[in-house]
Amino acid sequence: MTGLMTPDRGKRYASDTIQQVQHRLTKSYTSAPRRTALFVFLGVLKALLLVSWLVSRQQPKSVSAVPTDIQQAQEVRKAIAPLASLHAAFSGKDAGARNQSFENIQNDILWRDTEGNVIQAHGGSVLFHEGVYHLYGEHKGGRTLPPGSGKPPSIVHRVDVIGVSCYTSTDLINWKYEGLALPAGQHSDLDPSKVVERPRVLYHEPTQRFVMWMHIDTGDYELARCGMATSPSATGPYRYLRSFRPHAQMCRDFTVFKDDDGEAYIAYSSERNKVMHVARLTQGYTNVAMTFTRTMVGLSREAPAIFKHRDIYLMITSGCTGWQVNRAEVYFARDPLGEWESLGSPCVSRSHMLRETTFYSQGTHVLPMPGQPGRYVFMADRWLPQALGMSRYIWLPLWVVDIPQAVESPLRGAVHAQQRSIKRNKFRSMRPGPTNMQSLPPVDVVVRWQQRWNLTVLDAPPPLCADLLRSQSEAVLRDGECAI
Ligand SMILES: *[C@@H]1O[C@H](CO)[C@@H](O)[C@H](O)[C@H]1NC(C)=O
Ligand SMILES: *[C@@H]1O[C@H](CO)[C@@H](O)[C@H](O)[C@H]1NC(C)=O
Repeated sequence: MTGLMTPDRGKRYASDTIQQVQHRLTKSYTSAPRRTALFVFLGVLKALLLVSWLVSRQQPKSVSAVPTDIQQAQEVRKAIAPLASLHAAFSGKDAGARNQSFENIQNDILWRDTEGNVIQAHGGSVLFHEGVYHLYGEHKGGRTLPPGSGKPPSIVHRVDVIGVSCYTSTDLINWKYEGLALPAGQHSDLDPSKVVERPRVLYHEPTQRFVMWMHIDTGDYELARCGMATSPSATGPYRYLRSFRPHAQMCRDFTVFKDDDGEAYIAYSSERNKVMHVARLTQGYTNVAMTFTRTMVGLSREAPAIFKHRDIYLMITSGCTGWQVNRAEVYFARDPLGEWESLGSPCVSRSHMLRETTFYSQGTHVLPMPGQPGRYVFMADRWLPQALGMSRYIWLPLWVVDIPQAVESPLRGAVHAQQRSIKRNKFRSMRPGPTNMQSLPPVDVVVRWQQRWNLTVLDAPPPLCADLLRSQSEAVLRDGECAI
């Protein structure tokens, strides 16, 4: 979820980021010649949304919620071509009116399962087991409640806990609903009034058991614990075990990661989200080792997603801005329990806005493509705070690029060094970053925006700025990022 704003520093970043984003938004979308047209268009759009709501009375009330201005502007921009698709998207009926292709991943519509129901797997993760992808996520198909509701009063919009849903697929596009792998209610931690977020499942080979970890909290996010459940079957049902604070430390947004050698790790936002903690899992992945690492100290990162390329560990994180979007940063380490250092934003798009806002979304998981080293799917949530169950999934191709050494390929080496250097300086102005160029690994992480795509995209070579520079005359290096 969620970005919890930390009381001091995190909050300042948060508001800075949103102000910057809104400033850019205003600049990009309301330049003088276009302003009038846009306002007229917005008026028409709102009327359409209203009509749509009136017509489809069986839709839940929350559907008519107007998204944040950022999301709205994004939707407006997209909608200028196919207005109907936007209208359909907000009425929640797009898949009926305009059949989902089920051959491509489409990042602009509601996703439906093989029975036509809206997929409820927010803050999700995917386990690939015996040739089948298992998608786990928060079922948010209930009414969205405003901040201040519940006991203790919630600090952000929330939906009463329904449970952890599970879907299976062999192509990442057609998903069969397997039901609630862990329904609400079987333990006080799973009471509907609680918060159950970001379920992740690991397969523990020695015991042949599936272990589900999740973030358990109260609406005020003060409980801050990790919970776990196990099952002999990937799809469940899971038996809830307990929740705890690892090393007596707060655990909010988190992830678990299983290494090639069977060791597994947990990374969680701790110390009021200011510091990331990393620890090894023990006892069949149901406990944490005595020692842990404090990293990204004072940087207020959350929504961690860990993956590995060769012997390098990578972690995509978001900032802490509640349900609002912010810029992703990828960190690397040579040992999961060592120091993690920033490589800057992995997001690549022609649009500065898309890059700065992680494509209007918050990362949740990075799925390695089986048998395709360096190829991954970046999974994120485009939260709709006032209608959380309608939040969209944004899944994009991710490459880990081996950067050729300067000696092998002077041009590529130089371009990458320049790109890295600009990125690094940009970050240093905001916060301490890596100081020694030599300590950076010979990889870069690229997530490319694609509105509609399929896995054949990952068969192609990764998009490299250096290649583009060679093939195109226009400069593709802007703001220190590759504007592909
Ligand atoms: C959409 O899919 C449904 C179910 O597969 C099918 O019955 C219907 O004809 C399709 N509609 C369109 C417009 O292709
Ligand atoms: C899959 O993606 C490729 C490359 O973008 C495209 O050419 C192809 O038509 C797509 N397949 C389908 C079924 O849409």
